This record gives sequence, structure tokens and C-alpha cells, in this order.
Amino acid sequence: MIEVYNLYVRKGEKEVLNGVSMEVDRGETVVLIGENGSGKTTLIRAITGLEDYKGEIYIDGVEPEKGGKEKISVLSQDFNPMAYLKVSEIIGFCDSVDEEVIKELGLNGIFSSRIGNLSGGERRRVGIGFALMNDRPYIILDEPTANLDISYINRLISLLRRKVEEGKGLLIATHDLIFGREVGDRFVFLRDGKVAYITNEEGFNYACTKVFGTNMYTEVMKRCV
Ligand SMILES: Nc1ncnc2c1ncn2[C@@H]1O[C@H](COP(=O)(O)OP(=O)(O)O)[C@@H](O)[C@H]1O
Ligand SMILES: [Mg+2]
Repeated sequence: MIEVYNLYVRKGEKEVLNGVSMEVDRGETVVLIGENGSGKTTLIRAITGLEDYKGEIYIDGVEPEKGGKEKISVLSQDFNPMAYLKVSEIIGFCDSVDEEVIKELGLNGIFSSRIGNLSGGERRRVGIGFALMNDRPYIILDEPTANLDISYINRLISLLRRKVEEGKGLLIATHDLIFGREVGDRFVFLRDGKVAYITNEEGFNYACTKVFGTNMYTEVMKRCV
């Protein structure tokens, strides 16, 4: 289990995380939702050992810096490895090669391309593949659907469900409410560095409306009907 208790992260004058507590268990997907700047990326960076913090973080009982972070496979928000590396070389760094992940993310077609020549969506797919093919008990993805078109979002959802069935614990930060709602078992809504709501799908719309002032059904009705 990933356990976060009473977490504070300060940057400059700003308390970016202000007493956050939440958990991610194996075999579930927790989705982090919140407005730009609410602290999603900072929370992920703290869990993965990239931020100084006050409070407690344990991954299967071990602090990130004492080895806990080794249990996590991560897609960072700004995944952008060295431009001259080939996709095949990145895949070569993974613990194992999963043919279904390669196929569903369409990585075969760009295997011999260099990272610096890929489109934003192609680079995202490489980053997602890299995170899914490292065999750790927890997978954390920061904005995985950024630049992805809808067919790849649907394939990603299937791949993530399979990972949960395999017993992995998933934490996903997204501002994509439709994707997040579909893939999550539980939802942690952040507002100004604090947990505003933790809910299952029943409370999703209520929490969305409270945090964003609207929800996706209202928006779809407004735009598409
Ligand atoms: N070095 C810094 N100094 C001051 N504020 C920062 C610094 N780095 C990030 N922040 C602020 O921290 C807040 C949280 O950022 P982030 O965790 O990236 O949010 P999210 O991922 O939810 O959009 C933002 O308001 C951002 O401007
Ligand atoms: Mg972010």
C-alpha cells in the first residue's frame, strides 16, 4: 500500500501541499483530480522521492528515500528523455517486454525513431509503455492522456484495467474528467493543496461540481445536445 499522511510540501513562499492524507492499495486505481496548480504533480513527485516534505509517506511500509520509491514505476508529467535515444533503446531499459502493451500503444511503428523526432502523442505513448513495462507493484501516471487521441485513450483504459487485475496499485493524476471517471475506483479531489473530497463513483459528480463549479455531464449537455 502507498500511504500518505499529513503531507506538507513548501516551495518558496507557497505551501503547495497542505496536510494531504490518502492511500493507494494494490489492485485498485486511485485518480487524483484537481484544478491546475492544485498540487497533483507535487504529490506524485513527493511519493516518488523528488520533493522534500514534512509528514509521512510509506510504500509497503518503507519511506521513498529508504527504498520505497523502487517499488513504483512512473510516467512523469514531462516525460522527455534524451532526444537522440531510439524508442527501441527506451524499451530496452524496461524490466520486460509486454507484446500487448507494445501493440496497443502502437510502438512497433515507431521502434526505430529517435525521441526527438516524435510527436507529442507518440512520445507520450512511449512514456506510458515504459511505465507499464517496468515490473513494480505500483504504477503512477501523471497526465497520461496528454496529447493522446481518443482511440489511444480507449486502449490505455483497457491496458490499465489489465494491470489492476494483475494486482498492481495505480495512481493517476489527470484533468481529463471523462477518462478519470472511467478508469478510477476511487477519486481524490485536491483543492489548493488540500484533499477536498475522497469518493467512489457515486460521489464523483458532486465533488466535480464543488471543485470545478461544473461537471462533465453538464458540459456535454451544453455542448453536444
Ligand atoms: N518552485 C516553486 N515556487 C513556488 N511555487 C511553485 C514552485 N513550483 C511549483 N509551484 C506551484 O505549486 C503549485 C502546484 O503545482 P503542481 O503540483 O504542478 O499542480 P498540478 O499538477 O495540480 O497542476 C502551482 O501553483 C505551482 O505554481
Ligand atoms: Mg500536474
